[in-house]
Amino acid sequence: MPFSLDTPQRAAELAESLLPPLGDRWLHTQAVAARAAEASKAVLDDEQDLLIAAAWLHDIGYAPELRDTGFHPLDGARHLASLGAPDRLVRLVAHHSGAVYEAEQRGLSAELAVYEREDSPVLDALIYADMTTGPAGQRFDFDRRIGEILVRYEPGSEVHTAISKARPYLGAAVERTQERLNAS
Ligand SMILES: [Fe+2]
Repeated sequence: MPFSLDTPQRAAELAESLLPPLGDRWLHTQAVAARAAEASKAVLDDEQDLLIAAAWLHDIGYAPELRDTGFHPLDGARHLASLGAPDRLVRLVAHHSGAVYEAEQRGLSAELAVYEREDSPVLDALIYADMTTGPAGQRFDFDRRIGEILVRYEPGSEVHTAISKARPYLGAAVERTQERLNAS
C-alpha cells in the first residue's frame, strides 16, 4: 500500500516522528508548513496539499537517523523514496531552496541529479516558505533570511558559498510567488 505522504497530515506525522529532538529545526519546520499553507493560493487547488506536505518534510534529512551523505535534501529525498512517497514529493524535497547549488559545493551533483527538478509554482512556493522563515520559525523577509544564513555558516563553508550563488535564483522564486499571491 503506498504511503499517502503527500497529505499534510501524514507528512506532519512523519516530520513529528523525526524532528522534535532537533529543537529549532522543528520550530522552523512547523513555521515553514504554516507559511506554505498561507501561500497555497500561489499554486493550483489540487497542488496545495503537495506543497504543504513538502514543507513539512523539506528538512527531515537533518534527522540523525536519516543521515547518510550529510547533505540533507538528498538524505531526506532518499528516505522518502524508500518509504514509497510520491515522486513529486521526493523531487520537491530533493530540490528545495536551491539544493543544486549546495550539491555542487559538496561534490554530490550526480547523486542529486537522480531526482529531476520541477521548475514550477509549487517549487517556487516551497522556496518562498523556507526563505521567509527564520531558523527558529521567525517570520523574516527574504533579505533577512539570506543574511542570517550567511552569518550562521562561515565564509568558505559549503552552505555560505552555495547560498551566495543561489541568491538570485531563490529571490526570483520568492518574487514570482509574491506576484501569484498578489494576483490571487
Ligand atoms: Fe533545508
